[in-house]
Amino acid sequence: MSDSKLKVAVVGCGMIANSAHIPAWQTQKDVEITGVMDAMRDRAESTACKHGIAGVYDDVDRMLKELSPDVVSICTPAGFHKDQVIAALRSGAHVFCEKPLTISSVDAEEIFRVAEESKRQILVGQSMRFYNQISAAKEFVTDGQLGDMYCADVARLRRRGIPTYGTFHIKELSGGGVLYDLGVHMLDTVLWLMGNPRVVAVSGTTYAKIGTRNEGLITSSKESGAFAGGASNKSYDGNKFDVEDFAAAFLRLENGATINLKVCWAANIPDSAGGIMIMGTEGGLSFDPRVLDLRLIRNMGRYQVDVTPKIMPPEPDHPFYAHWNEVAHFIRVIKGEEEVCVKKEEVLNVIRSLEAIYRSAEEGCEVRIS
Ligand SMILES: NC(=O)c1ccc[n+]([C@@H]2O[C@H](COP(=O)([O-])OP(=O)(O)OC[C@H]3O[C@@H](n4cnc5c(N)ncnc54)[C@H](O)[C@@H]3O)[C@@H](O)[C@H]2O)c1
Repeated sequence: MSDSKLKVAVVGCGMIANSAHIPAWQTQKDVEITGVMDAMRDRAESTACKHGIAGVYDDVDRMLKELSPDVVSICTPAGFHKDQVIAALRSGAHVFCEKPLTISSVDAEEIFRVAEESKRQILVGQSMRFYNQISAAKEFVTDGQLGDMYCADVARLRRRGIPTYGTFHIKELSGGGVLYDLGVHMLDTVLWLMGNPRVVAVSGTTYAKIGTRNEGLITSSKESGAFAGGASNKSYDGNKFDVEDFAAAFLRLENGATINLKVCWAANIPDSAGGIMIMGTEGGLSFDPRVLDLRLIRNMGRYQVDVTPKIMPPEPDHPFYAHWNEVAHFIRVIKGEEEVCVKKEEVLNVIRSLEAIYRSAEEGCEVRIS
């Protein structure tokens, strides 16, 4: 290994590390993954063996001390992110952390404080921003094609797509349920497209009607987003389910715009994907994530037109190709060639909104975010 190579270490050796982070890092030039760590040593061992990585650890601090990585990819359940991200930053590494950055806004603020003190970069894995269609949508918005954006409808709906392979359904480990899994992606994406106006008030509800049952239905791990299967071979136990499987919210933004959000792991609905719809004074935007259909809705003279841009197929052709884009972007950020795409204020806006949805659901009334 030459000294000019970027040394990467990976914390957490589950689905997203094996399917996305490790392959994405390994296809970059001048990058070497020098170690992997998991609380379950056998997972670190099998991951290292599968991807040809030398360092195997079950202790983060030891790995950071022995390998002094330039970058750490954090791929653990969200409840562990704060301590691991801070340890990595303090060791002198830049951090690429999976979403959600943390399960509380106070913790997120602390992470950004440490990143600033350590003069290290942090990229939060809001991978949906890195879909080719969403990048195109952002370009249309920046180009003024939508005008003043005043209302958005956002939904990500699965009929039976509870991630049953990990610990997503256990609050102590993951912080929350579908809101911290799909909600964080959808809200981040729509707020980013709308220019990140601050969310000032939220009215929300959460439910846990299906996840608590051991239905024994035939489902595929793909339905829950684990396209190549999960790392765990434990069977799912609905008795441990103590998070929400459905959430809906109405959000008011500082500029008077509003967002309707609905996210669902499981409900008795037809198979559908939901999507993003943004209404602007000059044009509208609709995106269907299931068929990756992006449309710009406008008038042309006296005619109503739907514009369907020709978007090039992703490279590589992989369900997690957005991670390849994220990793390439982060390398450019580390080299000082571009600014990090996912900004501190954007992350805090989303996490504070999710917290407010939980509070509103608990208190049964609208919650204002100061
Ligand atoms: N961006 C995306 O599209 C996407 C998709 C799936 C998951 N994720 C995120 O990635 C993270 C991990 O999800 P996953 O699907 O890989 O889950 P997973 O359950 O498959 O993997 C988590 C791994 O972390 C390990 N682990 C648990 N506690 C640990 C600790 N304290 N220290 C070290 N290792 C520990 C587990 O043993 C497991 O191997 C979550 O934050 C999740 O939200 C993002």
